[in-house]
Amino acid sequence: MGRYDQKRIIPKIDLQKFLKKIIEHPNPKADLEQYTTPVSIVANILFMIENSNIDIHGKTVLDLGCGTGRFAIGSYYLGAQQVVGIDLDKTAIKTAQETSKRLNLENNIDWIIGDISAIRGHFDTVIQNPPFGIQKRHADRKFLKKALEVGKNVYSIHSHPSFDKKLIKILRKNSEILIRRPPSSFLKKYIEEYNGKICGVYSMLMTIPRMFNFHKKRKYSFIIDLYWIKKLD
Ligand SMILES: C[S@@+](CC[C@H](N)C(=O)[O-])C[C@H]1O[C@@H](n2cnc3c(N)ncnc32)[C@H](O)[C@@H]1O
Repeated sequence: MGRYDQKRIIPKIDLQKFLKKIIEHPNPKADLEQYTTPVSIVANILFMIENSNIDIHGKTVLDLGCGTGRFAIGSYYLGAQQVVGIDLDKTAIKTAQETSKRLNLENNIDWIIGDISAIRGHFDTVIQNPPFGIQKRHADRKFLKKALEVGKNVYSIHSHPSFDKKLIKILRKNSEILIRRPPSSFLKKYIEEYNGKICGVYSMLMTIPRMFNFHKKRKYSFIIDLYWIKKLD
């Protein structure tokens, strides 16, 4: 029996343990907003994509702006049929390749060093945590456009449009929950322009450690919104 014939429910804790094996970026760059999505968030998102929507097992998955490849490698672990990860940063891709080698996944994931504009073809599922545009305005728009050009189901992380103290408090109390929220009117308009339909927006609390020179605090917590989008035919 092949790897895709029978779906096996993988406990989230196993997924998290596996994701922890992924090697970290040795020198992330601020101008590319190269912060890595924390393991707990990657696991929550992949778990939701697979267990609510079955959009990973047996599917073709593209990780746009993959960095060290957490979403790509996690998708392979959950049974994706074919996985591609692309990032323009050579060090990030070399690190992802090093992880693939250590975990014997070398023949299972295609890693590409390049700009996302180089991607052609069709994928069942696109997962992306694009730069939010803090360093380069609207950097995430190019990602949404490409994802909707090549993907049927798109899962895209964006910054939450406002500082919502009450929501942060709720999310702090339970890091496992995803709270359903309305989409930002701007992103909704942009997504619809590219023939996408928003099926849900889920807020989560992301905490990252001090990484760059301009970081003054030991850690930063902020709300992120996961957009689940379907490309209309
Ligand atoms: C916020 S990081 C996320 C990394 C990884 N997906 C994760 O979640 O851990 C955004 C990534 O997008 C990459 N990136 C930015 N612009 C890009 C572009 N035009 N083409 C390909 N990759 C790009 C950066 O190098 C960076 O690794």
